[in-house]
Amino acid sequence: MIPAWLWLLCFSIPQALPEAQTTELYVEVPENYGGNFPLYLTKLPLPREEAEGQIVLSGNLGMAAEGPFAVDPESSFLLVTRALDREEQAEYQLQVTLETEDGHVLWGPQPVLVHVKDENDQVPHFSQAISRVQLSQGTRPGIPFLFLEASDEDEPGTANSDLRFHILNQAPAQPFPDMFQLEPRLGALALSPKGSTSLDQTLEGPYRLLVQVKDMGDQASGHQATATIDVFIVENTWLPLDPVHLAENLKVPYPHHISQVHWSGGDVHYHLESQPPGPFDVDAEGKLYVTMELDRETQAEYLLQVWAQNTHGEDYTEPLELQVVVMDENDNVPVCSPRDPPISIPELSPPGTKVTRLLAEDMDAPGSPNSHVVYRLLSPEPKETEGRAFELDSTSGSVTLGALPFHAGQNILLQVLAVDLGGAEGGLSSTCEVTVTITDINDHAPEFITSQIEPISLPEDTKPGTLVATLMATDADLDPTFRLMNFAIEAGNVDGTFGLDWEPDSGHVQLRLLKNLSFETAPSHKLVVVVQSVAEMVGPGPSPGATATVTVLVERVLPPPKLDQESYEASIPVSTPAGSLLLTIQPLDPMSSPLRFSLVNDSEGWLCIKEVSGEVHTARPLQGAQPGDMYTVLVEAQDADEPTLSTFVTLVIHFLKAHSAPAPTLALVPTRHLCTPRKNHGVVVSGPSEDVDLADGHGPYSFALGLNPTVQRDWHIQAFNGSHAYLTLALHWVEPREYLVPVIINHNAQMWQLLVRVIVCRCNVEGQCMRKVGRMKGMPTKLSAVGILVGTLLAIGIFLILIFTHLTLARKKDLDQPVDSVPLKAAV
Ligand SMILES: *[C@@H]1O[C@H](CO)[C@@H](O)[C@H](O)[C@H]1NC(C)=O
Ligand SMILES: *[C@@H]1O[C@H](CO)[C@@H](O)[C@H](O)[C@H]1NC(C)=O
Ligand SMILES: *[C@@H]1O[C@H](CO)[C@@H](O)[C@H](O)[C@H]1NC(C)=O
Repeated sequence: MIPAWLWLLCFSIPQALPEAQTTELYVEVPENYGGNFPLYLTKLPLPREEAEGQIVLSGNLGMAAEGPFAVDPESSFLLVTRALDREEQAEYQLQVTLETEDGHVLWGPQPVLVHVKDENDQVPHFSQAISRVQLSQGTRPGIPFLFLEASDEDEPGTANSDLRFHILNQAPAQPFPDMFQLEPRLGALALSPKGSTSLDQTLEGPYRLLVQVKDMGDQASGHQATATIDVFIVENTWLPLDPVHLAENLKVPYPHHISQVHWSGGDVHYHLESQPPGPFDVDAEGKLYVTMELDRETQAEYLLQVWAQNTHGEDYTEPLELQVVVMDENDNVPVCSPRDPPISIPELSPPGTKVTRLLAEDMDAPGSPNSHVVYRLLSPEPKETEGRAFELDSTSGSVTLGALPFHAGQNILLQVLAVDLGGAEGGLSSTCEVTVTITDINDHAPEFITSQIEPISLPEDTKPGTLVATLMATDADLDPTFRLMNFAIEAGNVDGTFGLDWEPDSGHVQLRLLKNLSFETAPSHKLVVVVQSVAEMVGPGPSPGATATVTVLVERVLPPPKLDQESYEASIPVSTPAGSLLLTIQPLDPMSSPLRFSLVNDSEGWLCIKEVSGEVHTARPLQGAQPGDMYTVLVEAQDADEPTLSTFVTLVIHFLKAHSAPAPTLALVPTRHLCTPRKNHGVVVSGPSEDVDLADGHGPYSFALGLNPTVQRDWHIQAFNGSHAYLTLALHWVEPREYLVPVIINHNAQMWQLLVRVIVCRCNVEGQCMRKVGRMKGMPTKLSAVGILVGTLLAIGIFLILIFTHLTLARKKDLDQPVDSVPLKAAV
């Protein structure tokens, strides 16, 4: 026992510490103090000068109204008046104040905590003096099957309440004395490894165990208590379970009991796990339940494991396994594969050609009738007369072509019923659909729409490149690639005169001329055009329609007449009189066939053209023509032999100001003679010699006959050089007499009119004038005969003189004087 003075010494130390009134004082008092009372605990820091106040002690003073604590007013010591029991009250919370009589606080409150220090004065005791426990065979060693419970009321956490368990005795001590082991701190009773082996072999027991609990931890001293445990060994009921077969979609109240486990040992908790996780549960009695409907198609089998565990979750033994098999129900419809792309079958495929294989999947248990699918053809329905279009194998679902033929481009919807239960009544079914497309093959040869073309006439001068004919061909195939055609000229295309032209994807082919045609070489062409499919053909060869014959007839073309100029122009004063020769239109080649000229559109009627000679004259005075105006007239020159051949040429007349000079000079030239019938003689007519411009080379004169139709008919004038023309008789015979032949001479927009006096006489043998032309009326008189004779002689004389003169002049090369009459040969 610790002496009181030592306590005082110990407990006064805190008093010496610097203090404030609020600092709690802490005092420990030993429990069950066995020394003298009052026991002074600690000196309170009361102020001395205020001694007239009254010390008040308050707070949690325990059960007694008169608490065990007091304050000695003399010494200011806190004291305890009796022994304290920790188990009764472990701590006291006190307050000390100094107060006046009327309750006025002079000092404090000073809190004081009094702690009762524990003494090992309590004995541990078991919660049950006698325990009975069942121990199942098969319990693993070391797994506690009983947790002993004992308590000690001494202060927790101290050695006074630190308990240890021990087995003191085992009865019977058979087959081993240490069949069990007891964990000293926890009191967990388990089979020892040795005990476990013997327990599995024979059913021993019951065993009576005397067990002890002792405080003060592992120290030898301390209080102790004992208890008896009767351990009954029971048979192992933890036996393998038979698999459970559960129908899917089972309509029963849930949870539905499916099996039972039982651990015969005491204090068991069951724990269940499902692999894969499923709706299963176990209750405290070991009954296994399924908590909701199962679906075989989701999970066909579960493996459940059930553990028997002690209160600490430790497994007594290996888990039991339970296989749960979900039994199938025909709850799934056969499902066709999602609609496939259309299946293409070439046309003309033989019966038996594989089309497709339908596959309907049934999720029900494989190999069971629930998933045994058979097929039935719904559409197209077989037609009694024509046979089946498709054949279907009801077990395999494979579809082949039937006897009924198809044609290209057909789309057939194949509908097949897939039924489970092997087609038996009550089976579930669905319809599978497949589109079958009959594809084209190149089994049609292209053909011309018309194989005989009407003969085509082509002028010889048809230009190369000209379209001759367009041929059309068709192809009965559907596929555009099978409709592509090639064309060729198989025969008749000598020297490649013709060619073909086509767009690859059209059935039109154009026959064109490639070279010049020649009537002489080939007056006709017979061309054989063939058409072929570009793609390789299947089946029959080319048909007769694959050729077309084109006959081309060449038309002869003669060149139109050619003129010496491309176009003709003349400039004339607006005052030009009628009958003036403007110009002459002539063929380019004088040797070519004769031409006939005509004016096409002389709308004013100003002009006229000589049909044969091509001379263009003014037909009337140019009334209305304005100087500076232009008058264009189209002239047609026709081939006299081939009237279809003609040439058109423009004739442009430029109108000039009226000539300032006086009206056309009327020049009378000396009388000339010409004999009739016409000989090769003519009269030379010269332009006005006084015109000085001529010497300057201002262009030739033009000569024309006056517009009198008789003059035009009887006479002919032809220029033979720039200044001279030759006037001859146009007719073979004209009446012998004197003629005044009007000749119009144009030069540089100037105009003159000559009146050439010509005496026409009968020709003698030499082709000269026989006599002077006289009056032919009535019978000649003697006088007239003498006259004629004298005239003739005179004429001869004149003629001789003329010839003489002419020769003399010719010799002198003096051409001033116009010649009366010269032989045409000499003149040319
Ligand atoms: C075809 O005829 C045209 C006109 O008639 C001519 O210009 C061309 O040279 C000719 N071509 C051949 C190749 O003879
Ligand atoms: C005659 O025809 C030609 C060509 O067509 C034309 O240029 C001309 O003006 C026409 N002349 C008259 C007077 O109509
Ligand atoms: C034209 O012919 C005539 C008659 O033969 C001749 O007198 C005259 O000199 C010739 N004039 C020219 C320009 O040649």
